[in-house]
Amino acid sequence: MSEPFPPSHAPIERAAASDDSLQRAHAQLLHYRPQLTRGVLLSIGALIAVLLAATLYFTHNAGGFDPLVANEDVCPPKGGFQAVTGPVTPALLGKRVYLANCIQCHQTTGLGVPGTFPPLAGSDWVTGPEERIIRIVLQGANGPITVAGKNFNGVMTPFAPVLKDDEIANVLTYIRSEWGNAAPEVKPETVTRIRSETAGRTAPWAPAELLEIGK
Ligand code: HEC
Repeated sequence: MSEPFPPSHAPIERAAASDDSLQRAHAQLLHYRPQLTRGVLLSIGALIAVLLAATLYFTHNAGGFDPLVANEDVCPPKGGFQAVTGPVTPALLGKRVYLANCIQCHQTTGLGVPGTFPPLAGSDWVTGPEERIIRIVLQGANGPITVAGKNFNGVMTPFAPVLKDDEIANVLTYIRSEWGNAAPEVKPETVTRIRSETAGRTAPWAPAELLEIGK
């Protein structure tokens, strides 16, 4: 005869089950429970640790899950990586400022939008006295203005609260040397001086008013 279930050293007498033997059988069944052994707990712990480590690893090294990162078909590019050559000039830094703050009106071409936003390319304002354009960028401009022979009358937003002195100097140095313009660079110290001279002014400059400055 096979072993009765649950296994026991004192087999239950099935034929004549007394109260006593039934109680013993129940007691045995109650004890027959799968236990979370130390081994199982350790395995679960190890699994959690591995998942945590993997999550941290991928968060740091997945390259934003960009398929181009570590795609050996396209990376490195043909001919290898190209080193950025040439010095980081104020004009180069200014180009960044320009692309982030000025292109929505004056455009990447510096040609502006005819009838609405004046051009910076070929503008006497840009290559003229720095005293004027520093003020335009600091407090903005509003009122009739003639640029490269065309009339405009719009509103330019002030940048005094947004851009630092060196950023304003660099962006002006950029527009004074781009698109065929050729005028000396603007120094951050000059912007600092004019910022303090015009401190407290929030009204945009009327171009006519600026023509009286830096004559
Ligand atoms: C919201 C649109 C707008 C933005 C942004 C803007 N400008 Fe202007 N800008 C104008 C307008 C409009 C005028 C003419 C104002 C007037 O009619 O009196 C002007 C005038 C000028 C002038 C003098 C006129 C000329 O065309 O030469 C300069 C220089 C200038 N902006 C430089 C900048 C620089 C540098 C930036 C970025 C830091 C910038 N602007 C951002 C709209 C803008």
